[in-house]
Amino acid sequence: MGDKATLRIWRGNQEGGKFESYDVETYPGMVVLDAIHEVQAKQANDLAVRWNCKAGRCGSCSAEINGKPKLLCMTRMTAFEPGEPITVTPLKTFPLVKDLVTDVSNNFRVAKKIPPFKPRPKEADGTWRMQQEDIDRIQEFRKCIECFLCQDVCHVLRDHHKLEEFAGPRFMIHLATLDMHPLDTIDRRPMMKDQMGIGYCNITRCCTEVCPEHIVITDNGIIPLKERVADDFYDPLKAIWRKVFPPKHKKSLPVLPSDPPKAKAGKKTEKKKESADAEE
Ligand code: SF4
Ligand code: SF4
Ligand code: FES
Repeated sequence: MGDKATLRIWRGNQEGGKFESYDVETYPGMVVLDAIHEVQAKQANDLAVRWNCKAGRCGSCSAEINGKPKLLCMTRMTAFEPGEPITVTPLKTFPLVKDLVTDVSNNFRVAKKIPPFKPRPKEADGTWRMQQEDIDRIQEFRKCIECFLCQDVCHVLRDHHKLEEFAGPRFMIHLATLDMHPLDTIDRRPMMKDQMGIGYCNITRCCTEVCPEHIVITDNGIIPLKERVADDFYDPLKAIWRKVFPPKHKKSLPVLPSDPPKAKAGKKTEKKKESADAEE
């Protein structure tokens, strides 16, 4: 017989809810998602939780454990003091669907607004050449698993509800990946300033602290982007220079796609369709 642990899980929907306590028997290597599955299997078959890989890869099982944004599948039960109740709540920043499942579709709406990578033509010999250091710089950002824990913790989204005005840290590093890519041809800096709300970030670094992939979101992604945007638009000489000589390899965007109608809370997103099959 293993030790017992008590989970306090938030149960409910947009109309309201409350915490329910469940005792589970622990075993070596158990993670919080295992404990939730135990509860689902034996005590509350209707408990809703989103997950998919159980390996820290899909980014589906994001929730808040004892108030901290975490992946349920990567948080070991041994991380908590024996006998200490473990509180599990849904992500606070996004609309609740049921129990631990939230509607994160706003993130996919933001993603759709960002024009994808568009490389310049290949060299005469049919290849592209890049400096290794340019690739190394953006490789870090490509580790993102789109768990949206950074979006959840960012106070601009979480406390000030600027989901329309600020794209959030996940998309700032996506924009950084594109802006820093040596082959890309699109100038997204005007949209970073006007539509993605880069000015809202006041570099508190909370996003960096919660990233399970240890991406240094603020210092390596957002701050360099802020400097580039500030140089281009707020340095008077550079602003004039930019007007007279637009960036050589980067084309300004013509018209950006308009927002599609908002998905209602509770609607399954395409990316999470598979995961939704696992919701019970
Ligand atoms: S550093 Fe910027 S993006 Fe990150 S949590 Fe703070 S305000 Fe949000
Ligand atoms: S940057 Fe980190 S915290 Fe944010 S979505 Fe990607 S993996 Fe998750
Ligand atoms: S189930 Fe946790 S990251 Fe995939």
